[in-house]
Amino acid sequence: MLAIMGAMPDEVRHLVDALRDVRTVTRGNRRYHRGTLWGHDVVVVFSHWGKVASAMTATTLVSELGAELLLFTGVAGGVDPTLRVGDVVVATRLVQHDLDARPLFARHEIPLLGRTYLEADPTLRAAVHDAAATFLSEVANAPDTPVATALRAVGVSAPRVVEGLVASGDRFFASDAARAELRRDLPETTCVEMEGAAVAQVCVEHGVPFAVVRTISDAAGDHAAVDFTTFLEAVASTYSHEILRRMLGGGASF
Ligand code: ADE
Repeated sequence: MLAIMGAMPDEVRHLVDALRDVRTVTRGNRRYHRGTLWGHDVVVVFSHWGKVASAMTATTLVSELGAELLLFTGVAGGVDPTLRVGDVVVATRLVQHDLDARPLFARHEIPLLGRTYLEADPTLRAAVHDAAATFLSEVANAPDTPVATALRAVGVSAPRVVEGLVASGDRFFASDAARAELRRDLPETTCVEMEGAAVAQVCVEHGVPFAVVRTISDAAGDHAAVDFTTFLEAVASTYSHEILRRMLGGGASF
């Protein structure tokens, strides 16, 4: 079974609406929706926000509900200055930018795991990347569709998909100074969010392959809060629905 964790309630609602034969179970303040999504046995759940909340959700998925693969979808703040709102990042690996157990361990190293960076599963992330690239090229080639029109309305033009390092931590970045500090500490960072690396750690410790896909909602700088709300209302949930439909609908063997 493939577990799909969504970082936004709207995004999860869209996906749950697309599920067939839904059975919902409640555990620890979360509702886990199991069913068939474009031919695949899945569980869809709202991750909740932050590292502890999302790690708890991932743990239930893996150890109680039997998730064999896990995909996290959501939005992120762009840290790489070439990224624009509406671009998609597929994580190659993830790091907890706020983890600092010095002098006992190196900065960002996960205590007792002996690792700093957690690698996404190459097959799963390639499938997400292909689906995102297909979606974005379809949008570019069909400028009159509702999705393309909604993107233009929030100023998104020619969105692209990139792969790279995703940094996670319990902080919403909304200042140029904080973003600059993160770039100094972890220069390879493409984008920042609040769950991915925590969910990745749960998956690594349980031996479950995972991938993380994030749509850039803001530039993690002085205007982050404003851009974020506008973007969420306009397009973010559509992205994950459309990317997943292309990924699962194409007969993939997950
Ligand atoms: N998720 C979306 N935008 C973000 C930001 N600016 N900081 C942290 N998480 C985010």
